[in-house]
Amino acid sequence: MTFTQQDARPELESAPGSEWWRTAVIYQIYPRSFADASGDGLGDLPGVTAHLDDLKELGVDAIWLSPFQRSPQKDAGYDVADYRDVDPIFGTLADFDAMLAGAHERGIRVIVDLVPNHSSDQHVWFQEALKAAPGSPERARYIFRDGKGENGELPPNNWESVFGGGMWKRVTEADGTPGQWYLHIFDESQPDFDWTNPEVRAEFRDILRFWLDRGVDGFRVDVAHGLIKAAGLPDFTPDPEGGSMGGDAAGVPYWGQPGVHEVWREWHEVLAEYDGDRALCAEAWLPTVAQTALWVRPDEMHQAFNFAYLETKWDAEALRDVITDSLHEYAAVGAPSTWVLSNHDVVRHASRLALTAENPQGAGIGPKSPGKPDPVKGLRRARAATSLMLALPGSSYLYQGEELGLPEVIDLPDDARQDPTWFRTNGERYGRDGCRVPIPWTADAPAYGFNDTGAAWLPQPTEWAELARDVQREDPASTLSLYRSLLAERRAHGLGAGSLEWLDGYGDDVVAFRNGPVTVIANLGDAAVDLPAGDVLVASGPLDGDTLPTDTTVWIAAA
Ligand code: NOJ
Repeated sequence: MTFTQQDARPELESAPGSEWWRTAVIYQIYPRSFADASGDGLGDLPGVTAHLDDLKELGVDAIWLSPFQRSPQKDAGYDVADYRDVDPIFGTLADFDAMLAGAHERGIRVIVDLVPNHSSDQHVWFQEALKAAPGSPERARYIFRDGKGENGELPPNNWESVFGGGMWKRVTEADGTPGQWYLHIFDESQPDFDWTNPEVRAEFRDILRFWLDRGVDGFRVDVAHGLIKAAGLPDFTPDPEGGSMGGDAAGVPYWGQPGVHEVWREWHEVLAEYDGDRALCAEAWLPTVAQTALWVRPDEMHQAFNFAYLETKWDAEALRDVITDSLHEYAAVGAPSTWVLSNHDVVRHASRLALTAENPQGAGIGPKSPGKPDPVKGLRRARAATSLMLALPGSSYLYQGEELGLPEVIDLPDDARQDPTWFRTNGERYGRDGCRVPIPWTADAPAYGFNDTGAAWLPQPTEWAELARDVQREDPASTLSLYRSLLAERRAHGLGAGSLEWLDGYGDDVVAFRNGPVTVIANLGDAAVDLPAGDVLVASGPLDGDTLPTDTTVWIAAA
């Protein structure tokens, strides 16, 4: 079977600059860990600007910045107190404008994170809600309810926070008495908005315009599956083995409710008022690819993260299935499939692909975790996995540091950990700090060139000197060199806009397909695989004569 991204909307020619997001490789910057120009140990926007040439050299089409808006940083910026300003730890709006202009000058598009499900408890609206009376318009912007029990002393339902503990917090009313409860899917410092309230909707349309007017190319929309809660807020007990962000179970009353689609249609119209193909990308953890595709129907969002792909084990049959399913389901609604292997919420794939024990999303790995990965095997698999991913038609997301082959940092000291998951589960779940450690730029510099003071908000492992960008730049066999080759060949052969045709005959443990002039073979089995004739364009690891060793992917130009 042949799938073509272009078939999905035949009227759309992929003219340069047109609907760039259908084929783009988008690089996620986690600003606090990317580069720190101020030297305070937390990355910042001038740090991003200073490294735009490195991103150009890498060959990405766009960057997505995790939140840099004003925030008390209880959840690393996913707790926004002012949606229209830059937090001073990251710089100023002028720094943002300079970064955006610098990216655009280099032909790099910029997507910013938008967090509409909840605000910080320091947001002016929430502070007003706390001071206002039950039933007031100020409270109606959030989800306040009376408690159960004789004196309202029990939470309104049994929902459990994604970060552990209950999903409700009781407030003290203005007269000093124990009062109503408010809902927080995440930390108690992140109260959920009530998206049935037109005032909330109007406010967010205005926030979109604020950033669109500044020139951003789109938004990554946080928790896009969570905005609407089922009417009546019915009790629900999640599967304890499930991933924390949702996605494993159907029928969850706070995930994937149909009402969210109305919001995306409104937002689609706002973006359509602007020129230049602005795009919305949904962070929606849902049980199936088919359900996720509903988020990217023609009048809704433009892309959704393919978490089903990210969560697929290192198994050839499972990969063939999820790729087929994704191309099929997204094409059916006229959207490109996206692909992703790492982000700031999951164990880095250079470690995850070699774990030998189950590890639900959000749990993280630490010193006491079972099934810790063999780092050599992990990196080999990660390089093979990325080489497979970047050959697929559609758009791919990369997470900062994966181009250096960074592993998850497992042995962070307990007292360095900052993820609310760690605190809310009393250390039972390590959480996501291990994938958020500041990245190394220069082997021989303080904090490996993250800044020039040596400060780092999470400690960097000493082994990271060898993984620093300046070392890898000089080494043709490095992971950085591999990523650069993959991105250059992908662009040269138009693979993002191409089509996939499965190739048979390589055996069950092999993923093999053709995309235009390029044959891609990934060997996930133990036995070496004979290579077909043709020029090797890129290989994720050393080849063995005319054979492809285990955990290796190769791109071959047809002879
Ligand atoms: C998803 C974000 O990616 C994650 O980092 C954050 O903790 C939650 N949403 C809450 O905003």
